[in-house]
Amino acid sequence: MCGIVGYIGQKKAAGLLIEGLKRLEYRGYDSAGLCVCGEGTLHVQKSPGRVAAIEEMAGADASLQAGTVGIAHTRWATHGAPNQVNAHPHCDDGGRIALVHNGIIDNYATLKQFLLGKGHTFTSETDTEVLVNLIGEFYEDGCQTLEEAVQRALREVNGTYGIAVVSADEPDKLVAARKGSPLIIGVGDDEYVVASDAAAILEHTANVIYLNDNEMVVVGRDGMRTMTIDNVPVTKEVQQIEWSLEEIAKGGYPHFMLKEIMEQGEVARQSLRGRLDLRDKRVLLGGLREVARHLVRTRKLIVSACGTAWHAGLVGEFLFEDLAHIPTEVEYASEFRYRNPIIEERTVFVAISQSGETADTLAALREAEEKGATALGIVNVVGSTIARETDAGVYLHAGPEIGVASTKAFTGQVIAETLIALMLGRRRFMSQPAMTGYLEALSEIPDKIERILEQSDDIRQIAEAHCERENWLFLGRGYNYPIALEGALKLKEISYIHAEGLPAAEMKHGPIALINDGMPVVFVAPRCGTYDKITGNIEEIRARKGKVIVVATEGDEEIRRYSDHVIYVPDCPVPLSPLLTVVPLQLMAYHAAVARGCNVDKPRNLAKSVTVE
Ligand code: F6R
Repeated sequence: MCGIVGYIGQKKAAGLLIEGLKRLEYRGYDSAGLCVCGEGTLHVQKSPGRVAAIEEMAGADASLQAGTVGIAHTRWATHGAPNQVNAHPHCDDGGRIALVHNGIIDNYATLKQFLLGKGHTFTSETDTEVLVNLIGEFYEDGCQTLEEAVQRALREVNGTYGIAVVSADEPDKLVAARKGSPLIIGVGDDEYVVASDAAAILEHTANVIYLNDNEMVVVGRDGMRTMTIDNVPVTKEVQQIEWSLEEIAKGGYPHFMLKEIMEQGEVARQSLRGRLDLRDKRVLLGGLREVARHLVRTRKLIVSACGTAWHAGLVGEFLFEDLAHIPTEVEYASEFRYRNPIIEERTVFVAISQSGETADTLAALREAEEKGATALGIVNVVGSTIARETDAGVYLHAGPEIGVASTKAFTGQVIAETLIALMLGRRRFMSQPAMTGYLEALSEIPDKIERILEQSDDIRQIAEAHCERENWLFLGRGYNYPIALEGALKLKEISYIHAEGLPAAEMKHGPIALINDGMPVVFVAPRCGTYDKITGNIEEIRARKGKVIVVATEGDEEIRRYSDHVIYVPDCPVPLSPLLTVVPLQLMAYHAAVARGCNVDKPRNLAKSVTVE
């Protein structure tokens, strides 16, 4: 997804902007560019492809070397092909103003007609070029300052934006604004770094301010001013970013994804820290304290999310109904937002999101709030939009997730759901012995995850043995049905193998027709109430010569009779089993993708944070 970096300070801007863009590469992009303010002129370089290409071009362009103010961008195409012309920054047709933009201007066609009528010309297919020309039009038409022209233009815009703007006529100034697309201002000594993501700021400072929707900032040599786009001054608090640069780096692993899989024991420990009170047999969730009484009286939970977070939501459906006895519905956020959903009294809406910026999840949240639901967030990125727009919530504390394929965030999301379900369950009906049993079992989960991770090499061998096959099935039941879906999603998104996840019993209603000699079929079959049924399904696959890979509970020797490969996970209460069974499937997907030579951290066509529809 697109990334923005802007700089104003005493240092040379070009190198700094490029370093910032490199920090944002993990978000996924298809082109990049930068603009540095020179002596009364804007110097722009942009290119399709990697940031390295821009680095080379910038190195060879002497005009870029001196300036200390600039903006830069990584683009993930929405309007127009990923090419040099459509890459950002975009300049107005007079070449005096440059803009980088994340988001989508919905009414760009109407605005373009207006600007064409005024004699403006366009070179790209982008909505961004329309916006920069609109700013240019107002700048020429009576606005005294760049910020005034930006404000006037943004008031005409329908859609979403995070923008950073510079002008050749006011070279010691950078203007940035946001609506629906994140923007953070790093506040250093005599310098400011504007970015869509903290990763591009941390190298310079941990002091930041977060812009809210409809807010903007003007940074200059003399300091910073914040205001709304209607020019009402706003006072912003400087906050501290908690993540270190080291946390953001790969930590010695070949890929971020592997690092993030391998740190899941520690992630589970962090997510549980301070929240499991084993002495008083309680769950402590500070973020829900204010709403706890209200939550206990919940009549219905609606959980909404996208992708992997949606799979975590499906696990949540089992947890909330089973452990807390609250009827729960799980919705794709992209469907929920357009469905005119019925929200009855005492409905609680739960938005799950690693990034906290996913456009569909945010829109679903706003729809639910509009209709009166209390909204909770289960979010990883502190200070993200979803975290700020929900009434209360639980942070994952999973640390930055850089690999495009979500792994440790899933674990953090399921842990957060388990804690909420236990907290509500205990207050509604759960006995103290039952609660004690779950809390003790939960406290053992981090060590158990680490035991599974030790099997990475064995799992690699299984993955390598079957990674040439282009079709895989993943089957599970009950709590482990969502894990089958997640296993299939992980495999397809990074190895490009076609994979389907299904409830195991559904197989005989159609998908069994797919089974042929050697087709890998992964069963998620820890010991549980439907275990015997699943062994029946395994027999059906074997009879058709499929290759059976089973994730089973330690000590289940019987399962070996039915399987080509068994991966064992430690025993635990069934509601906690997804936290363990998902781990071998993440490793399987990772090793299969590496064996196939795929770019694991930057899979084709995917972006880390999907901030457009
Ligand atoms: C899959 C993956 C995506 C995200 C989805 C939601 O590995 O990463 O499916 O889970 O785009 O993203 P967040 O959790 O940031 O809302």
